[in-house]
Amino acid sequence: MMTSLAGDLASCHDDDGACDEAKSATPLSPVTTLATEAPAIEAASESGGDDEFDAISELFDDTTSVTSSIYAHTYERGRRYQSFKNGRYPIPNDDFEQNREDMKHAMLMELTDGKLFYAPIGENPQKILDIGTGTGIWAIEVGDLYPSAHILGIDLTPIQPLWVPPNVEFVVDDCEKDWLTGDVDLAHFRFMAMILRDIPGVLGHAYKSLRPGGWIELQELHGHPCCDDGTMGRDDQFKQLYDLAGQAYQKFGMSTALPAQLKPLLLDAGFQNIHCKIMKVPIGTWAKDKTMRLIGLYQKTVVGDFIPTLAGRPFEALGMSQVEAQVTLAFARKALDDANVHRYFNYYFWYAQKPVLGRTTV
Ligand SMILES: C[S@@+](CC[C@H](N)C(=O)[O-])C[C@H]1O[C@@H](n2cnc3c(N)ncnc32)[C@H](O)[C@@H]1O
Repeated sequence: MMTSLAGDLASCHDDDGACDEAKSATPLSPVTTLATEAPAIEAASESGGDDEFDAISELFDDTTSVTSSIYAHTYERGRRYQSFKNGRYPIPNDDFEQNREDMKHAMLMELTDGKLFYAPIGENPQKILDIGTGTGIWAIEVGDLYPSAHILGIDLTPIQPLWVPPNVEFVVDDCEKDWLTGDVDLAHFRFMAMILRDIPGVLGHAYKSLRPGGWIELQELHGHPCCDDGTMGRDDQFKQLYDLAGQAYQKFGMSTALPAQLKPLLLDAGFQNIHCKIMKVPIGTWAKDKTMRLIGLYQKTVVGDFIPTLAGRPFEALGMSQVEAQVTLAFARKALDDANVHRYFNYYFWYAQKPVLGRTTV
């Protein structure tokens, strides 16, 4: 599903510029940009139900192990938030949210056929960073796969498990501050571009910390529902919810559109050999292909578990009352359950290289 090359991007029909980055990708030397996008997802002739994959929900019933209560948290409307730099990240860090993050990981492993990253870092990497590591699930799996490497996961919030492979370490830190590490083979970000405020600064830190020839990778959801077959109307209430979420994130200095716009930022930071894969993820079980139906169920579930968080800090930032917020959510939830609407999200997989011989002038 990722075989089409730049120039073969006609199937991208979103109206918010999500794919402009890839469409305008012209190979340049030495700053190469290769963009690939998946074709439209074929819909099943009959809409399947979510119960086809009943067993998967059991996989996520257990809570992820968390660090001890020496770390303080704040509580709002029954949800727990980080206390380090409290307010920076408007999404909870409780067990419910951690399960959701792990489900996103499972979804991406299905989508990428188990590939943890695309950057060609070779078989023997020594240092890998996972920036905004969350539950640390990606860092732990990479640690198991690459015993040669030291994996450092950093996050604002200490929710990572205590028992991890010996080559994996977690620290609580703010990646928007200076990074005190060097000679890195891979700096990995996932679901981070839309929540960081100073992305040029962070890309600059990553550039500095990489060894010459090292790679950066950003795996990102573009936060705007798309549709290729006209089944999602302009007044679609799920789409409207995401429009509001975009406005709310802006109030926190975040951009839900940024995942599609990273190329100039990577260039400005000094990266070359820029690649971008765009993959479509159905929201719900409407796809014909069974794997895509499973991925769609994961996506629908993580979205269904995410949207209540919008009624907290994000919609509060828009000045919405709780009643207004809950009504908006209820309509969006109802829309999400309509399997006749073939919505999908674009996922952007960017990877780019620090030049071997110093910074390239573009
Ligand atoms: C959406 S989660 C992504 C988790 C992880 N990358 C994954 O894909 O499983 C975002 C994470 O970034 C962390 N975060 C947000 N801002 C940060 C910052 N400035 N520095 C470090 N971590 C940050 C949050 O605490 C949260 O755990």
